[in-house]
Amino acid sequence: MTLSPCTGDPDPAAVVAVARTWNARAARYDRYYRSYAEAGRDAWRVLYRDAVRALLGPEPLRVLDVGTGTGFAAVLLAELGHQVTGMDASAQMLERARAEAMRRGVTVEWCHGDAHDVPIADYDLVTCRYVLWTLPAPGAALSAWARALRPSGAVLVADGRWHTARQLLRSPRLIPGAVRDYLAMGHTLPYWRGITATQMAALLRSAGFGAPRPFEHLLPGRVRRDSRDFFVVGAQREG
Ligand SMILES: C[S@@+](CC[C@H](N)C(=O)[O-])C[C@H]1O[C@@H](n2cnc3c(N)ncnc32)[C@H](O)[C@@H]1O
Repeated sequence: MTLSPCTGDPDPAAVVAVARTWNARAARYDRYYRSYAEAGRDAWRVLYRDAVRALLGPEPLRVLDVGTGTGFAAVLLAELGHQVTGMDASAQMLERARAEAMRRGVTVEWCHGDAHDVPIADYDLVTCRYVLWTLPAPGAALSAWARALRPSGAVLVADGRWHTARQLLRSPRLIPGAVRDYLAMGHTLPYWRGITATQMAALLRSAGFGAPRPFEHLLPGRVRRDSRDFFVVGAQREG
């Protein structure tokens, strides 16, 4: 697999190991998420529409969706009229994202690359859903996203704590997969168990973003991920 080289701290071997894990998961990925059902998509579309308007106004924007996976957010944002690039380190996930965009009849530019080394392209918005926990150097990645944004551009992040003992015990069928993944990549990921809104706020501050604004209340409970600390926050680049 060829990926653009990492800048900053992340170990390129760790990034490749993570991408390999997601390649292996790609075929089953969409089945695990309630949000992929049409009602869930509609709820997330409303969240993206209203959160993006609150952060940046109603105009069509240039958006980079990092760790786009099977294209969930990228395709929704394209449906909302934005010009979207979806980036992922896993070629298998991107293949499914392409098919999803075709099926939904929207145009998205797809890019196989590393979240720690995004193109500097004056984006208005960087989005990232359920990705920071799976990065070897989330702080370095956020700094790279800040550099990729135009001044006053914004980031919109959804994440939470996923792999607590309580959650793993509640989903015993996921344990073998989780243990296998942890052995493959978890030791290289500082937030493998997940990330809280408080940790997120500190990461955003160090990367040069302003105070985070919460948006998770825009999503009905039935489509939220099963995490006590589920959050969706937006923050503007400072300076
Ligand atoms: C949990 S999935 C989230 C996918 C999608 N954002 C969603 O909301 O369904 C995490 C995604 O991050 C991608 N990813 C992990 N590390 C990455 C990296 N260093 N650079 C780019 N993408 C990465 C994985 O390949 C995977 O597609």
